[in-house]
Amino acid sequence: MPKPISQFVCQSCGTIHGKWAGRCDACGEWNTLVEESINPVAGGKPSRSRRKGRMIEFVDLGSESAELPRMASGITEFDRVAGGGLVPGSALLVGGDPGIGKSTLLLQVCGTLAGKDAKVAYVSGEESADQVQRRAKRLGLAKSPVALAAETSLGPILDALKDERPDVVIIDSIQTLWTDQLGAAPGTVAQVRACAQELTRFAKKSGACVILVGHVTKDGQIAGPRVVEHMVDAVMYFEGDKSHQFRILRAHKNRFGPTDEIGVFEMRESGLAEIENPSALFLDGRDNAATGTAVFAGLEGTRPVLTEIQALVAPAAFGTPRRAVVGWDSSRLAMVLAVLEARCGVSFGGQDVYLNVAGGLRIQEPAADLAVAAALLSSIYDISLPADSVVFGEISLSGDVRPVGRSDARLKEAVKLGFSKAICASPRRKAANSNLIDLSLIAINTLPDLVTRVENCANGQGESESAWAA
Ligand code: TYD
Ligand code: MG
Repeated sequence: MPKPISQFVCQSCGTIHGKWAGRCDACGEWNTLVEESINPVAGGKPSRSRRKGRMIEFVDLGSESAELPRMASGITEFDRVAGGGLVPGSALLVGGDPGIGKSTLLLQVCGTLAGKDAKVAYVSGEESADQVQRRAKRLGLAKSPVALAAETSLGPILDALKDERPDVVIIDSIQTLWTDQLGAAPGTVAQVRACAQELTRFAKKSGACVILVGHVTKDGQIAGPRVVEHMVDAVMYFEGDKSHQFRILRAHKNRFGPTDEIGVFEMRESGLAEIENPSALFLDGRDNAATGTAVFAGLEGTRPVLTEIQALVAPAAFGTPRRAVVGWDSSRLAMVLAVLEARCGVSFGGQDVYLNVAGGLRIQEPAADLAVAAALLSSIYDISLPADSVVFGEISLSGDVRPVGRSDARLKEAVKLGFSKAICASPRRKAANSNLIDLSLIAINTLPDLVTRVENCANGQGESESAWAA
């Protein structure tokens, strides 16, 4: 029987099939199988040198080198997410929606690194050299000693890099690269995987830090290069809402640092500017007396960030009431609504519920439960929460409010921004921080307690001091 010369690879999950089918058995996606020719690079038969059998060497877990050498770019928000700076010999993937600002960010990183005597190469597969130069001019980087090339073929790129020996290489983007050792079209899983593998190998071998740019699909996956996520040492997502100015860089995986850090930037005319105090940005222009809003004292990584949560409860026009959420988990909203109904007797039947996190931030913490409940109650009873108050706490299905981690950091940030009250569960231990003397804690240990206070407030016409006594 003749040997098959092609295989069918699912572009969604990477599973290899012997023959074509309309649907991938492994992931259930339709129309994702693409024919690719079988070749040694993508894992066909082993090459001759491998068959000879080389002995590998085992070493101890203890290592001589104390600290990882790092190249800090000087852009603090970027360095923090990278765990302190770029690590030589590592590969990094930066993902994000098209047009979000990945190329801009990385060009700026290139510029500052080059200014610190690092040898930097920027390979653009998407834009011509002229386009990148024009952008560099706009960013004030025209004089930066960055080596720029516009190329999509992997072979010449690797040859040039081996010659040039840069410390940092940016590949923008991995989806545009192709290697002539494969029959598949650029952008397919096989091409992306083969190119990423070669570039990762180059990084380990040469000690350069290779940064790959990857585009993200609608459902939030890095298109095609999902397989790349496993190959590289760190994955970062650059996200944000295109209608808002600010952007967040989030570490998704990092072999050399924490994964819960974020960097906040603002897209301006002259490029991305670092935002040292995101809370001030998110609370800018807030109306203290508005109903249906609560300020949530949250944490993004190790950083406390205050954001406004807005809720609107309005009579449903017809049919099934709507539940619309922007910036938070909709199943979490359903849970908070159910607890309010079942444990506190607040009815949302026949009412539309809209929830929005102001500024376009996406909150993932359960600590936002109490702030969401407070905003909902504030809207339904049409009263405003105490002025200058922040809210946080996790709600359990029984209706209890639980204290959440790192309350001190949240409270300190609130004090820094001029807030004087905090609505939260009683802390497990007394905060020993003198900074917090100015802050009065309104302890809410059960959700019915919050509802009673809001009801008292509504009956007493507006905010009454007694309703919110500590
Ligand atoms: P870009 O970095 O090209 O996005 P990506 O590489 O993620 O596809 O960013 C493109 C957007 O950024 C574009 O809509 C214009 C905007 N932008 C600015 O607002 N200011 C600037 O200085 C630059 C360079 C871009
Ligand atoms: Mg780009």
